[in-house]
Amino acid sequence: MSITTAPVFPSRTDQILDSLRSSGQLKLLQVIEGPMDATVRLRGFGEVVCLCSNNYLGLANHPEVVEAAHEGLRRYGAGTASVRFICGTFDCHERLEARIASFYGVEAAYTFTSCWNANEAIFPTLCEPGDMIVSDELNHASIIDGIRLAVSIKKGLHRAVYRHNDLNVLNERLREARANSAVTGTLWVVTDGVFSMEGDIADLPGLREVCDRHGALLVVDDSHGTGVMGATGRGTHEHWGLPASRVDFFTGTLGKALGGAAGGYIAGSRAGIELLIQRGRPTLFSNALPCTVACSADKAIEVLMREPQRVQRLRDNVAQAREGIIRAGFEVLKSPTAICPIIVHDTAKAIAMSRRLLDLGVFVIGFGYPVVPEGHARLRVQISAAHASAHLRTLETALVQLRADFGASTGADARYAETGGSRPR
Ligand SMILES: Cc1ncc(COP(=O)(O)O)c(C=O)c1O
Repeated sequence: MSITTAPVFPSRTDQILDSLRSSGQLKLLQVIEGPMDATVRLRGFGEVVCLCSNNYLGLANHPEVVEAAHEGLRRYGAGTASVRFICGTFDCHERLEARIASFYGVEAAYTFTSCWNANEAIFPTLCEPGDMIVSDELNHASIIDGIRLAVSIKKGLHRAVYRHNDLNVLNERLREARANSAVTGTLWVVTDGVFSMEGDIADLPGLREVCDRHGALLVVDDSHGTGVMGATGRGTHEHWGLPASRVDFFTGTLGKALGGAAGGYIAGSRAGIELLIQRGRPTLFSNALPCTVACSADKAIEVLMREPQRVQRLRDNVAQAREGIIRAGFEVLKSPTAICPIIVHDTAKAIAMSRRLLDLGVFVIGFGYPVVPEGHARLRVQISAAHASAHLRTLETALVQLRADFGASTGADARYAETGGSRPR
């Protein structure tokens, strides 16, 4: 019997890659040959100002954080060689989780090898048939996939989406859920704290109020808000003056402001965390967070708690960068975060501009469809507390040149900028 399907895969794969190549949408992986910092050494380009990492507090190459990783390696060796519930729980995991819980001021926390994993653990584990999860339409892909997984694992678990940051639509979704006889359990609302492509933030006090009206739980993934938002970097809830106790569960990453290595966590009630330990498939069937990372992340949070002035430094840098972008003739979406999205509309153009910026000594990534909606391609500039004033001046000079090279049609759609990043409808 001949197998006729075998040739399909290579030809269709080539077709997809060719189409990405010919439309200028093929992503090129740039290779870094040294540590992540305010500048990085990029293969083929030399030293460039790094304005596309999530190293918001400059802790990825902080001497104490690096030393903590070294010490972890010396003390615990290279690998855990186990999942947590067999023999993969080390005392450095306990310390890190206690640190995360105390950082938020909540009962307990539990780590995963990524926030992606944390988001794939929380909904399939804590939700049950008869519950409904209501999610912001612009939530991160890991939340979307976590919900997809949950509804496919637990038949009879419901889901709905609300228009980005629209409390009226959310209220309506929750009202409909309460009126739906198939929804007999808990209502869950989930949002990013900071939306990474728009740089805008969730209205957490408003969300809390709507949740309270309908008896819903609130889950906040603050991966881009932790270490950035609020006077002491506790996150988007601190920015709003909302006590952490008013958020039922936080999910977050250790791969951005908190040392930048990798790893994620869920923080909230002790009972919820205990259930995740008992039933969360990404922790029951996958190795523990490496000890080196547990140690370096613990140190990174300690440094943040000891030196909250890093958050102010980041904020000052963001203000300087935004002024420079505007002076260079570009429009940047309004944002209280460390993300400065410059809308250039066309995906191929965003990629070409990003490439030109590298020649000018500046590392900024262009994002296009499908990461952002068609027609809303952008250069996403991300600022770090590690940047010195001179780095941000280099950005401005490069943008002035970019505008000269690419002409005047580089500004954001004014309608779009006015919305502060909400997707126009
Ligand atoms: C909101 C949000 N959640 C989750 C993640 C995934 O985090 P990790 O890299 O730890 O898997 C990201 C990373 O881009 C994110 O922005």
